Amino acid sequence: MQTYDSSIKEIIYSEEVIRKRVEEIGKQITKDYNGEELVVVGVLRGSIVFVADLIRHIDLPVVLDTVALSSYYNGTDSSGKVKINKDLESSITGKNVLIVEDIADRGVTLTFLSEMLQVRKAKSIKICTLLNKPSRRTTEVQLDYIGFDIEDNFVVGYGLDFAQKYRNYPHIGILKEEMYKE
Ligand code: IMP
Ligand code: MG
Repeated sequence: MQTYDSSIKEIIYSEEVIRKRVEEIGKQITKDYNGEELVVVGVLRGSIVFVADLIRHIDLPVVLDTVALSSYYNGTDSSGKVKINKDLESSITGKNVLIVEDIADRGVTLTFLSEMLQVRKAKSIKICTLLNKPSRRTTEVQLDYIGFDIEDNFVVGYGLDFAQKYRNYPHIGILKEEMYKE
């Protein structure tokens, strides 16, 4: 029995399944950019685990940068507002940029971020998200690489948190409702 096991209703993607999918996405990205340099922008903190695994499957000259945004405040629903806690450290003007996110839910965070980066005159901006909850979308956003489409469940693990915990859970699992509902 491990620390988080009793709070997880169901594992939807095991460590092993995630590993294979991440490798596939990395190979696809490698092919699509055809030797060009790529600035990978990890969205902190949720994408840390994913981005660390993904870049090792991208066979291109990669520059890794990060932004920190927050839209969720210790709950399972977002406030609707996005706050920038940390901006990029490198210039992206004239560069190929790949935004890497843990999950596209309502689409607010990714729309905000791609609009924020668009004005910096990148050569290209694409989005890669490990998970996608299409049924929750309120803001249309183009997702170029998707790991898995999922149902409307609150999931944790492999970087995704609930109240900052579970990021170190190696699988992706549905959090038991009793963990966040009275
Ligand atoms: P959006 O702006 O509604 O698309 O929210 C995206 C952000 O909400 C993600 O980067 C996550 O941090 C968080 N989020 C959305 N759904 C989940 C979930 O099921 N588990 C954990 N975090 C989530
Ligand atoms: Mg996030």
